[in-house]
Amino acid sequence: MSPLSNRTVATIGSGVMAESIIAGLLRGHLVEPRQIVGSEPRAERRDELTAQYGVRMVASNVEAARDADVILLSVKPQTLTKVGHELGGELRPEQLVVSIVAGATCRVLTGLLDHREVVRSMPNTPAQIGRGITVWYATPEVTAEQTDQARVLLGALGVDLQVDDERFVEMATAVSGTGPAYVFLVMEALIDAAVHLGFPRHIAHDLVIETLEGSTAFAKATAQHPAVLRNMVTSPGGTSAAAIHELESGRLRTVLSEAVWASYRRTVELGADLEKGLGLDEGSVDAAGKPANGKSANGTGPRAAADRRVSR
Ligand SMILES: NC(=O)c1ccc[n+]([C@@H]2O[C@H](COP(=O)([O-])OP(=O)(O)OC[C@H]3O[C@@H](n4cnc5c(N)ncnc54)[C@H](OP(=O)(O)O)[C@@H]3O)[C@@H](O)[C@H]2O)c1
Repeated sequence: MSPLSNRTVATIGSGVMAESIIAGLLRGHLVEPRQIVGSEPRAERRDELTAQYGVRMVASNVEAARDADVILLSVKPQTLTKVGHELGGELRPEQLVVSIVAGATCRVLTGLLDHREVVRSMPNTPAQIGRGITVWYATPEVTAEQTDQARVLLGALGVDLQVDDERFVEMATAVSGTGPAYVFLVMEALIDAAVHLGFPRHIAHDLVIETLEGSTAFAKATAQHPAVLRNMVTSPGGTSAAAIHELESGRLRTVLSEAVWASYRRTVELGADLEKGLGLDEGSVDAAGKPANGKSANGTGPRAAADRRVSR
């Protein structure tokens, strides 16, 4: 029996990612449409999701969350504070909140919602076809049963990976969360290079897509280190060696590493800004981990460690 059997799932903000979860849950027969309720401000979007998936859609976030066992927070970061104020104080401990909001730390989520049973996660765009990878962290107050519910919910997006330190979610934001952007940029650059060589664009596109997909499948199937696979195709004085020399002189590895660090720093900054905006910065948290405004925070303390890493 699925951990979500007879449970109600609410999607707060029913955009692209929420739809991916709804589609994945229904595709896997993990829930019935009647077990899903979504909130969404636009009537056309509500009608669209009801027509497509048979789920109940409402305009009010509080109404969607009221009777839900699992509440997916899937609004944009800039909408989070508004939505959090609506839901804050309305939730019961037996309700699990699963957030996919980029940058929203557990301190922000628990403080804003006045609710301790929270999962912070970071999916990525291939989730839209059920091929994403989602890294997630549960606060200590999340029960074993709720942990299973979170795993099933996020598993609807593809592979899920639970971590025991929130910092790994922040790091994953820079690697897998932002990862598709790096890959698409490389894809685009290779397609353009093939066009520059003289291929018609559609052929250039297919050559690059199939090469990337095949190489990934090959690496997965052989479980070999990428350097081993690369050496296989790099004969002395050959074509790959000539190309790799150019990539290395262009500092490809360093540039990629710097890109990942920049994305990580931005993630930590976004979280710090949200915490500051809510008065949840270090100075306003008392010894018990409760913010001075009286709302609870889980007191998980990865922030300082993350800041140390980020001061590189
Ligand atoms: N897309 C990704 O690959 C990805 C990856 C990792 C994490 N995330 C995170 O996932 C979250 C959702 O991303 P998304 O791509 O699904 O964005 P999205 O498609 O824009 O979905 C957000 C939804 O929230 C709705 N909304 C706006 N104001 C609202 C309010 N006050 N109450 C309730 N709903 C409201 C929006 O409606 P309107 O369209 O009418 O404004 C929209 O349907 C973001 O926080 C993002 O950081 C996304």
